[in-house]
Amino acid sequence: MSLTFAATPNQHPTSDADRAAILDNPGFGQYMTDHMVTATWRKDDGWGEGALTPYGNISISPAAAVLHYAQEIFEGLKAYRHPDGTVWTFRPDKNAERLQASARRMALPELPTEDFLESLRVLVEADQAWVPPADGGEKSLYLRPFMYASAAFLGLRPSVEVKYSVIASPAASIFVGGPKPITLWISEHYARAGAGGTGAAKCGGNYASALMGQIEGAANGCDQAVFLDSATHTNVDELGGMNVFFVTRDGRLVTPSLTGTILPGITRMSVLELAKEFDLVPEERTVPVQEWKDGVESGDILEVFACGTAAIITPIGELKWDGGSARSTAGESGGEITRGLRGRLLTLQQGRSDDTYGWMHRLV
Ligand SMILES: Cc1ncc(COP(=O)(O)O)c(C=O)c1O
Repeated sequence: MSLTFAATPNQHPTSDADRAAILDNPGFGQYMTDHMVTATWRKDDGWGEGALTPYGNISISPAAAVLHYAQEIFEGLKAYRHPDGTVWTFRPDKNAERLQASARRMALPELPTEDFLESLRVLVEADQAWVPPADGGEKSLYLRPFMYASAAFLGLRPSVEVKYSVIASPAASIFVGGPKPITLWISEHYARAGAGGTGAAKCGGNYASALMGQIEGAANGCDQAVFLDSATHTNVDELGGMNVFFVTRDGRLVTPSLTGTILPGITRMSVLELAKEFDLVPEERTVPVQEWKDGVESGDILEVFACGTAAIITPIGELKWDGGSARSTAGESGGEITRGLRGRLLTLQQGRSDDTYGWMHRLV
């Protein structure tokens, strides 16, 4: 039986004036909407007790497994208001499938796709006033589904009780005046994932383990860190929260293959499919970091970009490491393909260009 979410509306929602002020300048992840969705899974009963409630703190046992053993996964996707006022999201079935894959890896229960989609619909319907207007900017409502082991038990075993929730937070474009190329630090000492580990799952531990690489990068004047494979420290994996692509002089769109240590990004998957619109041949393979360093210098690599839900596509201007740096020749604009792919994805998501692939899903 599918989940239903019994509604208890927030009796003290944010005022129209306060919400308008937040939507004017939402930043990222700072403000939460008025409601949240929750469902509970129990080993003996499966999924039940779905609810839409006012957004608020949760109460959890100090012995809850998630606090000790990090049995937790999450997702991230956005709701966009289209010019006709309707609200849509991008390929949410793929987020549902990734949450299921993450659940399998972390010994958590799988949430059926229809329940995942319904949880998003219920929350966005209740908080639709929080979806920023379709004013041609890049604002959206970021949706954060997550699942965690809530059973109070200190023994190490898969939790017998699990909570699933969705919260939402209005988001601005992270770029003021268009995307600016970022500088990346090669994290040579810290890996985010290893063979047989959890790199392909969207679980909190991967992000905690990436923080030191980020800190080291920031200390070296970089915006973000790029992680290498942990076995040889020679091949490119991905950033802490984005996948990476290379546009080559001979017309290929290259990205590291999914070896189990890389998160299978939904933007990545979409960019690979969009390659043909730009007359590029998509290629998933091992990418030695030396090829990146040499390629941007020689011009064999014309453009480099990172991609993910939060920033869509971000040009990478410079790569730095202990003792050296290599700068992309694409310049401040990030390059024609990078700009073109970004514009195509953004306008598709915002309902301003053809959804040729049937990727958009209406929520409200
Ligand atoms: C580690 C990591 N890689 C890649 C991505 C990009 O994935 P997506 O395009 O599905 O947002 C994300 C963001 O979710 C991420 O956290």
